[in-house]
Amino acid sequence: MRDAPVIAHNRQELADALAATSGTRALVMTMGALHEGHLTLVRRARSLADHIVVSIFVNPTQFAPGEDFDAYPRTLDADVEKLAAEGVEVVYAPEPEDVYPVPPRITVDPGPIARVLEGATRPTHLAGVALVVTKVINLTRPQVAVFGQKDAQQLTMVRTLVRDLDLPVSIASVPISRDTDGVARSSRNRYLSEEERHHARALSRALQVGARSASLGGTPAAVLADTRAVLAAEDGVEIDYVALTDPDTFDCVEGDVRAGTPAFLLVAARVGTTRLIDNTLVTLGGGSSRGGK
Ligand code: PAF
Repeated sequence: MRDAPVIAHNRQELADALAATSGTRALVMTMGALHEGHLTLVRRARSLADHIVVSIFVNPTQFAPGEDFDAYPRTLDADVEKLAAEGVEVVYAPEPEDVYPVPPRITVDPGPIARVLEGATRPTHLAGVALVVTKVINLTRPQVAVFGQKDAQQLTMVRTLVRDLDLPVSIASVPISRDTDGVARSSRNRYLSEEERHHARALSRALQVGARSASLGGTPAAVLADTRAVLAAEDGVEIDYVALTDPDTFDCVEGDVRAGTPAFLLVAARVGTTRLIDNTLVTLGGGSSRGGK
C-alpha cells in the first residue's frame, strides 16, 4: 500500500509540501475526473523525475460563458485514490481564489495558434490555458511537465509558450490513450449516452481513413475529403472541423506538399451536446506515422 499523497488546497500548503521533498519534480496538470489517459501522463512523469505533483483544477479562465464550467465533473476523492495508487506525492487541488487571488491584469497572449481551430470555436480558451499553465508552473517549479497529445493544439501552444517566455521547464508528451472501441479517452466522454458513444467511434475511424489516404500519397485536399466523408456518413455526428496543420506552428497545410511532410490531422465534432476532438500525426505524400510527436 503506497502512502497517500499530500493534498495541498492552497499555495501555502503546496509550498510546504514541496519544501518537504528533495530531488527532481514532474508536473501533471489536470482538471480532475481522472481516467486511464491521465494515468499514462502520471506514469510518464514517474519515469522522468523523483517526485510527481498533480494539479487538479477546473480552470475558470479557459471556459467561456455558456460552456460547461459549472457542469464539469468534479470527483476529487476518486481522483486522489487513483493518484495514491500511482504513488503520486503531492496533489495541488486549489479553489479558483487561490490560483487567482486577484483578477489578473496581466494575461498571456498565445499568439496566432489561439485563433485557429479550437481557437476559432473557443476564442478565449487557449489564452486561459496559457495563463493557468504559466501560473501553475511558477507555483510548482517542476523540471518537467507532461501533457497529452490528445489536445495537440494545447500541447503545441504550451511548447511555444515555454520556448518563447523562457519558462525553466521541459515539456514531455504522451500519446493519445484510447478505449478498446478506439474512442480517445476524455473526461467529457461521460456525457455520452450509449448511442452517442457508438457515433463517437466515427472520429477515430475517420482519422484512420485519413492517415491511410495520406500514406497512399493523397494530397491534403484528398486526405481531408476522405476523413470528412467518414464523419459525414455517421448519423449523430456534427462536424466542427477537419484540418491538417503543421505540427510545430499549427499553420494550415494545403496545396502541393513535399512527400514525407508531417502534419497533424485533426477532427472536432459534436456528438449530441458533447464536443469531442481527436487527432493523429500523418505523413503526407506517402509513408506512415500514426502516433505523436
Ligand atoms: O488539458 C487540460 O486538462 C487543461 O487544459 C489543463 C492543461 C489542465 C489546464 O487547465
